[in-house]
Amino acid sequence: MQAVRTYKASTTCSPLTRRHLPICISSLPLFSKPQHNQPRTFSTTILTKPQPHRQPKPTPYKPKFQTATMASTTKGNAIPTASKLSDLFSLKGKVVVITGASGPRGMGIEAARGCAEMGASVAITYASRADGAQKNVAELEKEYGIKAKAYKLNVADYAECEKLVKDVIADFGQIDAFIANAGATAKSGVLDGSKEEWDRVIETDLNGTAYCAKAVGPHFKERGRGSFVITSSISGHIANYPQEQTSYNVAKAGCIHMARSLANEWRDFARVNSISPGYIDTGLSDFVDQKTQDLWKSMIPLGRNGDAKELKGAYVYLVSDASSYTTGADILIDGGYTVR
Ligand SMILES: NC(=O)c1ccc[n+]([C@@H]2O[C@H](COP(=O)([O-])OP(=O)(O)OC[C@H]3O[C@@H](n4cnc5c(N)ncnc54)[C@H](OP(=O)(O)O)[C@@H]3O)[C@@H](O)[C@H]2O)c1
Repeated sequence: MQAVRTYKASTTCSPLTRRHLPICISSLPLFSKPQHNQPRTFSTTILTKPQPHRQPKPTPYKPKFQTATMASTTKGNAIPTASKLSDLFSLKGKVVVITGASGPRGMGIEAARGCAEMGASVAITYASRADGAQKNVAELEKEYGIKAKAYKLNVADYAECEKLVKDVIADFGQIDAFIANAGATAKSGVLDGSKEEWDRVIETDLNGTAYCAKAVGPHFKERGRGSFVITSSISGHIANYPQEQTSYNVAKAGCIHMARSLANEWRDFARVNSISPGYIDTGLSDFVDQKTQDLWKSMIPLGRNGDAKELKGAYVYLVSDASSYTTGADILIDGGYTVR
């Protein structure tokens, strides 16, 4: 109910004040006595209850394809309706694609485990390890009771990236988040490596990430929502020592800036962020000799390599509504390697 008060107003208000009559009136004492030089000439009625600050209500999204209960109705750049952390981090009803999740202890499978634990259905990809990917799918379904499926993908082939997006939408109905995690290391620098070696790393780590973004972006735009997360690296921030891997460093630096640039491009409908891991024991760098690996460790303030499960919380955060105001960010998770 709105309270209604009647005030007597004076015509002695200046013309300027009269234009702002409600302000002038509301500043008068209630039922104040008329003064000789302030004849009462009219009265007015105003509503005195302060109007609540109106915020535009987010339009509830109606999915084309109904899957499980939606975790939230948050549009690309809107404030989530949920407030509790358990709701903000929930991924129930969401579908997350994770590329490069064929390893038994890689960042991809750990990101998939994190998303599945929070209720998401997951689509994972492999390039050469089909068995590893199928094993991961079986484990995800059994352990977390969610829907999971593996797809073969070479990220360096744009047509395959487009096909992946189409296939996942056909199988799952939608894509809420895409973690572009697939990547390959460089085994040499510019002078020692061949042109083909340079191209392989750039095509996989840089072009492949852009191809994934180009393939899934239109779906995010159509739905007015989405989260794109790129696995970059400390190598995108610093040039690792002593190993020479310029192509990889350049590709990962490009990935960090790609996340920032896409965050701007996609500002009306999706968020884009990157994660930059330090040295993580995933098997990816097992080919490097022990002496070099010991030197790496000596440069890490926390004194050890990371375990991939120490990153899954960050992936879940960036995929979920808990990070609704985070876009264009890069999260360094490196045991302090880059503090120097
Ligand atoms: N481990 C680290 O210290 C570290 C640090 C910073 C950043 N990273 C990055 O983290 C990401 C994951 O690596 P990881 O360490 O977790 O190792 P991983 O388990 O071996 O993951 C690499 C994944 O990329 C896939 N892949 C390779 N080439 C591909 C291509 N052309 N197309 C599609 N998929 C391809 C692999 O598939 P198949 O195995 O099936 O061929 C594999 O699933 C990579 O982007 C890597 O650069 C790793």
